[in-house]
Amino acid sequence: MDKLVIKGKKRLSGSVRVSGSKNATLPIMAACLLTDQPCRIKNIPELSDIKTMASLLAALGTKVEINGKEILIKANDDIGFEAPYEIVSQMRASYYVLGPLLARFGQAKVSLPGGCAIGPRPVDLHLKGMEHLGAQINIEHGYINARASKLTGTEMTLEGIKGPSVGATANVMMAAAKAKGNTVITGAACEPEVVDLANFLGAMGAKIEGAGTPLIKIHGVNELSGCEYEPIPDRIEAGTLAIAAAITGSEIEITGLRLDHMKAVIEQLETMGCKVNAQNDSLRISLARRPAPTEIFTAPYPGFPTDLQAQFMALLTLSTGTSVITENIFEARFLHALELNRMGAKISIKGNSAVIEGVDKLSGAQVMASDLRASAALVLAGLAAEGETEVSRIYHLDRGYENLDVKLAKLGAAIQRVQDE
Ligand code: UD1
Repeated sequence: MDKLVIKGKKRLSGSVRVSGSKNATLPIMAACLLTDQPCRIKNIPELSDIKTMASLLAALGTKVEINGKEILIKANDDIGFEAPYEIVSQMRASYYVLGPLLARFGQAKVSLPGGCAIGPRPVDLHLKGMEHLGAQINIEHGYINARASKLTGTEMTLEGIKGPSVGATANVMMAAAKAKGNTVITGAACEPEVVDLANFLGAMGAKIEGAGTPLIKIHGVNELSGCEYEPIPDRIEAGTLAIAAAITGSEIEITGLRLDHMKAVIEQLETMGCKVNAQNDSLRISLARRPAPTEIFTAPYPGFPTDLQAQFMALLTLSTGTSVITENIFEARFLHALELNRMGAKISIKGNSAVIEGVDKLSGAQVMASDLRASAALVLAGLAAEGETEVSRIYHLDRGYENLDVKLAKLGAAIQRVQDE
C-alpha cells in the first residue's frame, strides 16, 4: 500500500489544470449500456473509480477500451445483467448500472453496496424510482433483483428525508430515457453532474428537459445511439486545489474549471479572506494571512458541497477564531476530524456539527485516510503542518483524485509517494 510523505510549510506557485469530473464520468459510463452503438468519452480522469466502473462494464461483457484519457464503450445485445458483489463493494457508484440495464434488457441484478465510512447510505430512492417505472424488485442474498417487461413513464418525487438524491435522479433519468411515455421527476437533484448526464443522454438522442432544476421531464424514446462526449471539469478537485493555495498562504492559478459550478465554494473562500480572481475558465487564488473563521452548512447544490467539507475543515483548523461546520448530507462524515486533532487541531463533534477552534499551527504526524475526501483533507493539513506528515491508506485518495500528489509537487509542495512496508 502506498503512503504520502509530506514536508510541510512549502509555498506553492504556478498553474494547475483541473481534471475531468469523476462524479460526472461514472454515470455517463453506465449510460453507455443504453445502446449497442459505440460511445466515446473524452478527457476522462485516470482514477481507480473509473477503472472500477470500466471493469464492471467489462464483467457484464461490454467492450471497453481505454486509450489514455479516452474511453470507448460498446455494449452489444448479448451482454449480461449482473453487477457482482466483488465490484460493487469496491465502489458504491456501481449501482448506476441498475437503471440502464433494466431499461435495455428488462432485468438487472445488482449487489447491495454495503457499509460506507461516511455513514449510512441507503438505496431506497433508487428502488422506489425503478418501482414507479413499473419494475418488480426483490432483495435476496444481498442482491437487488429488478425486472420489468417494459418500463413505463410516470410522475414521481425523488426527495428523501435528506433532500434530493444525485444517484437516484441519475439512475431514474437513465431508465426513463428508454421508457414508454413521459416521466416527471420532482424533487430532483440539481447538481452539475446530473445536468452533464442529461446532456450526454441528449447527445445519445434522449429527450430530457429541466435538468439542473428540481423538476425534470423525460420523454422516453425507443432507441438511443452512440456519441462522443467530454464530461465537465471536477469542481471538487478545483475546490481542493484552491484550499491547497490558501492553507499554505500561497497564490496559484487553477485552470480548466467551470466557475458557474463553484459559486458557494468561492463565496466561502472569500468569507475566509481569500482573494479570488476569476476569469473565464480559470481563477487565481491567494490568502495572505490566517483564514477568518466561518460557518458552513453542507447542502444539496447550489449549496455548499459535502464533498468539500473535510478539506475546508483542514483550512479552518488554522483560522483566527472558532468555526462551525454542519454536515446535513452525510451526518457521520467526520472521521477526518479525529486525525486532524492528531496534528494539533482543536475540533469537537456535536451531533452533525463540528466546532473548530483555530490554532496557530499544525504539526506533522502519521495519519490515516478513512475515505476519499478525508484523505484530501489530511494531505492539505500536511502541506501546512510543521515537520513531516505521513498519510497512509491513500488508495482512498487515488479513487477520486488524478495524480494529486504529482500536481501538488509541480506547484512546489514537498510531497512524495512511497511504498508502505
Ligand atoms: C453523490 C456523489 C457523492 C456526493 C453525494 C452528495 C457520486 C458517485 N457520488 O453520491 O460524492 O457526496 O452525491 O452530493 O456522484 N439517500 C437516501 N436514499 C437513497 C439515496 C440517497 O436516503 O436511495 C440519502 C443519502 O444517504 C444522503 C442524501 O440522500 O443523505 C444524498 O445522497 P445522494 O445524493 O444520493 O448521494 P450519492 O448519489 O450516493
